[in-house]
Amino acid sequence: MFRMHSGVKFGVDYYPEQWDRSLWKSDLARIREMGATEVRLMEFAWPVLEPRKGRYDFSLFDEVLKLCEKEGLQVILGTPTATMPAWLVAEDPSIVQVHPSGKAKDWGSRREACLNAPLYRKHSQRVVEAVAKHYGKSPVVAGWQVDNEIAHEGSDICVCAHCAGAWHAWLKARYGTVDALNRAWGAVFWGRTLSDFTQAPVPREQVSTDQNPGLLLDYDRFCSDTAVAHAGRQIDILRKHARHGQFITTNLYMPPLSNVVDMEELFRDMDLVGYDNYPVWGDMAEPLPWFFNSFILSYIRGLKQNQPFSVLEQISGFQGHVCLGYRPPEEQMALWTNQAIAHGANRICYFRWRTAPYGQEQLCYGIIDADNTETRRYTAIRDNIRNTRAICDSVGSEPVPAKACLVYDMDNIRVVKRQYLSKGLVFRPMPYHQIGYAPELARHFAPYALFGINADVRTPASVTIERYRVISLPLCQMTDGDFVDSLKEWVHDGGTLILGWRAGTRDRSNHSVKMELPGLFSELAGVRIREFEALGETKVGIRMGLIPCKGEIWADILEPGSAQVVARYTDGSKYYRGKACVTVNSYGNGRVWYLGTSPNELALFLLYRKIFKEAGMNPKFRGKGIEVVRRATRDGGEVDIVLNHTGKKKRALGAKLAPYGMAAVPVKKK
Ligand code: GAL
Repeated sequence: MFRMHSGVKFGVDYYPEQWDRSLWKSDLARIREMGATEVRLMEFAWPVLEPRKGRYDFSLFDEVLKLCEKEGLQVILGTPTATMPAWLVAEDPSIVQVHPSGKAKDWGSRREACLNAPLYRKHSQRVVEAVAKHYGKSPVVAGWQVDNEIAHEGSDICVCAHCAGAWHAWLKARYGTVDALNRAWGAVFWGRTLSDFTQAPVPREQVSTDQNPGLLLDYDRFCSDTAVAHAGRQIDILRKHARHGQFITTNLYMPPLSNVVDMEELFRDMDLVGYDNYPVWGDMAEPLPWFFNSFILSYIRGLKQNQPFSVLEQISGFQGHVCLGYRPPEEQMALWTNQAIAHGANRICYFRWRTAPYGQEQLCYGIIDADNTETRRYTAIRDNIRNTRAICDSVGSEPVPAKACLVYDMDNIRVVKRQYLSKGLVFRPMPYHQIGYAPELARHFAPYALFGINADVRTPASVTIERYRVISLPLCQMTDGDFVDSLKEWVHDGGTLILGWRAGTRDRSNHSVKMELPGLFSELAGVRIREFEALGETKVGIRMGLIPCKGEIWADILEPGSAQVVARYTDGSKYYRGKACVTVNSYGNGRVWYLGTSPNELALFLLYRKIFKEAGMNPKFRGKGIEVVRRATRDGGEVDIVLNHTGKKKRALGAKLAPYGMAAVPVKKK
């Protein structure tokens, strides 16, 4: 089937349907001159391909594909189902999604179709089949992108009548009997017991008091299955028609962890993971911290057994829909490309070739502007492709070796999204996003990035824990005996486990455990927790050794059993002043650290440095804004890729780094 290429491929996202055909040839020639070998096309072109129901017109893309072939460019085709034609919604207006607020979407934005609406299913499958049949054997088509950013922009949740029907069937398939469902949800509470599956409400926004958390969790799981099935139907069609060697992927977005969809499931039957890399977007006053981006890129890599991934949209200018903010210098934009490659990308497509003169994305600046003259963005991308060729060729498609891992899982994300525990975990930049979970995970990932320790990001279902020496497990409220047992064995054999607050409080049905906290982790952690406080937006004084620091978001009051105290609360305003907030327990040959609060920057730095040293991980802080990622190389060696995330000249690992520069320092064999 699909074979991984070595090195890194570059490409651009191109929308020929938005430009006069007289521009196509020269556009493609300039794209090639820039150093790209691929273009991504077609993901919003349904009405171009099927202007009237059942009447297909492939002429525009046929012509473009011919020109690509002449120019030596390969193409990635997007199935055009993220926006539907006007004639389709006219046939049945109930095809659009209904938001939990009760608002129905209108045709004209995007991703407005309900994935459970029979009419959408029928027609989207039909158009995918037509496109796949037409282009599936084309030698110029390198691969397929299913839809575009599935479930993004709040489209992961729909509560329309089609969904309600599918939801009831889903519940029946999951639970078999209504009694089992009542038990799982604890529906006896407030007398919410059901006598038939069809009585189960969909989660709409209420004036006050929410639906049962068990119901909410199941609805999120149901929506995830809906999105995965949508992709699955397209994958089946594409597989039927795609020639040997064409890959199938789709593109995720920022921040993927705010979504209810299980992305590992989404990619399960695809060949590779795709990601849209925008470290800054819209009105943001500054880019995301570089280590946050490292975390997300590592998460993306982890979605498919750490195989190389594709960036299908890499920011090339500065972009927003209605408002703009921070404008990255060209060098920083190039650095973000290099950072993605350092973390395992082996394909980078820039979004987009030319800034659209009209439409909802007039403010999404591409590589060149509507005036068509050469921009500094163009030359910066071209130069970066040339200058990094040797590094890219040596590491592209090679593994990113890691001895550490951060473990997260979807149910824990969904639970925090619905029941966020402490105001400190609320972060809602958009009405449809509650992404407090991601920054908390990033807090635990940051020390790995700061100390130059490669770390993977995996789920309990996909992680091979024996591979690692250190594992961080923040916000792991829901867990199960099997996972904890495997951790016990691993710690016993010498592993170092870092547990975050609230660990082990729930079972997989989201019921509170009927045991002392930290529940199933008690034996490992060697502590008891009988009291705790949500800190909200306040902070609490703690001390790491002699150094005063702060704890944030939550305060578990730890009563050490076999564990030793590492840090204590020092806040005079708290009745638990003097009590333990961080402990460490020896378990067999390994160690278990329990963090009862979220350490602030300084505490995190000190604590993780101590943990890494004890675990023999050799932490090395190389200075502010310096990232070091170790990569395996094609010749069997290793190289440290050093990235300078600052606008100043730096020196690290003996290499001179230009502002936003990169260097590759070979690792000496011992
Ligand atoms: C992505 C999307 C593109 C475009 C881009 C703008 O989320 O896939 O279609 O909207 O953002 O930055």
